[in-house]
Amino acid sequence: MIPAYANFGGKIHGGILLSLMDKVAYAAASKHAGNYCVTVNVDGVNFLQPVEVGELVSLQASVNYVGRTSLLVGIRVTAEDVRSGTIKHTNTSYFTMVAKDEANKPTQVPGLLLETRDETRRFQEAIKRRQLQDEYREQFDNARTILAVEDQMNLLEDERCRIVY
Ligand SMILES: CC(C)(COP(=O)(O)OP(=O)(O)OC[C@H]1O[C@@H](n2cnc3c(N)ncnc32)[C@H](O)[C@@H]1OP(=O)(O)O)[C@@H](O)C(=O)NCCC(=O)NCCS
Repeated sequence: MIPAYANFGGKIHGGILLSLMDKVAYAAASKHAGNYCVTVNVDGVNFLQPVEVGELVSLQASVNYVGRTSLLVGIRVTAEDVRSGTIKHTNTSYFTMVAKDEANKPTQVPGLLLETRDETRRFQEAIKRRQLQDEYREQFDNARTILAVEDQMNLLEDERCRIVY
């Protein structure tokens, strides 16, 4: 990580890491799909520890799940202090990618061979992740449409805000 990637606090910008992750997700997805892919969704972006200038960042990716046209790529990011050899886990995120054909339409991807128990576990976890995301999206959309602002004033009671309109 070079100094040009640092923020005002001297740590590496989260955006630099996200950009690297997006590229790695693309590489893994497009290699499996045999087609161009686009990023549709990113889940689990939590930066657990800061990355310092001079650290060596590694990204490990695997295609954990495939749907019909989509692929879920899991990416584990670590940063190594090359002098001490200390390695820290900075985040693990999940990128949903969709394969596109020449007409820019979603196109079917090959199925996945599950060669180890870990690969089977990741595939199962991806199914659960997708189910929970669908449920969350539906519940949140319902909550937004059903309730009016005036009905939810109690949510603000212990919050650090003041209505001034
Ligand atoms: C995502 C996109 C391909 C969906 O197109 P669509 O015509 O609605 O296609 P579909 O409804 O058939 O969805 C295609 C797949 O994407 C999945 N998908 C769509 N929206 C999704 C979301 N928000 N999260 C996760 N998966 C999603 C669908 O489940 C489907 O997967 P499957 O075929 O494995 O079952 C389209 O909206 C798109 O191209 N978006 C822009 C992506 C892009 O340009 N990204 C770069 C960053 S700007």
